[in-house]
Amino acid sequence: MVRKTKEVSNVTRTKIRRLIMKQEMMTVVSQIQLAPNIYELVLTGELVKEMKVPGQFIHIKVPRADLLLRRPISLAKINLEKAECTIIYRVEGAGTADFSQLTTGDLLDVMGPLGNGFPITDISSEDIVFIIGGGIGVPPLYELSRQLKKRGAKVVHILGFAKQEVIFYEEAFKALDEVHISTDDGSYGTQGHVGNVLDRLLKEYQPTAVYSCGSNGLLKTVEANFHDHPRAYLSLEARMACGMGACYACVCHLQADETGKESKKVCDEGPVFATGEVRL
Ligand SMILES: Cc1cc2nc3c(=O)[nH]c(=O)nc-3n(C[C@H](O)[C@H](O)[C@H](O)COP(=O)(O)OP(=O)(O)OC[C@H]3O[C@@H](n4cnc5c(N)ncnc54)[C@H](O)[C@@H]3O)c2cc1C
Ligand code: FES
Repeated sequence: MVRKTKEVSNVTRTKIRRLIMKQEMMTVVSQIQLAPNIYELVLTGELVKEMKVPGQFIHIKVPRADLLLRRPISLAKINLEKAECTIIYRVEGAGTADFSQLTTGDLLDVMGPLGNGFPITDISSEDIVFIIGGGIGVPPLYELSRQLKKRGAKVVHILGFAKQEVIFYEEAFKALDEVHISTDDGSYGTQGHVGNVLDRLLKEYQPTAVYSCGSNGLLKTVEANFHDHPRAYLSLEARMACGMGACYACVCHLQADETGKESKKVCDEGPVFATGEVRL
């Protein structure tokens, strides 16, 4: 028992050491507002060299002494040549409100890239891929789509938003491939949630891979449609503290485990899981 505890703490120590090496004061290149309460922030630093896999996130320290926990935000775009990465976030509370005040030249304490991103190495020009996203789950899907297009895949984007006002990156996605938008209130595109668009598109296409990120409701729709699909993936959100697999704040449960005792950590075993793997 004592040995096991030692082994676990050694693993944790190794992880912490590895993560300290993945921490940097990154510099703000630019910040613009994309829609009400939605911001696009571009950062530069050495850490960008580590950023390769779409669907990973960075863990950002709020530049305020009273807010101790870092905030997890997905990578929306990676530009290795310019050593820049882009995040897109919605102001939810004190932390993200603070991020929205940052201007060019400000420094930001960033840890990352963290987590297991979307598996794409087996995608080729033979594939028809569905990318399904909603609201603030859309940002990581942009870098994902860029990388899938580089691999030659046909990509069909199905994106859901609350209303027309909060839609962002429509043109950017259109520049990559086909885009279908739904809004909850019907102010733009198809009325209702992405499931309505999905039902229609499934009559037209049989996707060979499916990637999704969004609200729990959206993920449940994807899970219901692609439970047995061999290449369908969900990116989960969970409240996080350490972000490095040490505190167990972010666990989710496994579908296969009826006892409910087994769990996976969203921060380092996720945030991306295959459909059929975890309970939503
Ligand atoms: C892997 C991952 C990727 C994410 N990517 C994005 C993104 O690209 N864009 C975006 O707008 N948002 C994203 N989020 C959600 C984002 O982390 C929260 O909106 C943000 O932490 C809220 O912080 P706050 O201080 O403004 O709000 P507060 O409500 O004050 O936050 C209080 C605490 O709760 C945590 N928290 C609050 N909401 C969430 C949440 N939904 N998920 C996890 N922790 C939360 C915060 O980290 C903080 O510790 C992501 C979350 C996860 C887990
Ligand atoms: S946030 Fe600490 S283990 Fe995931």
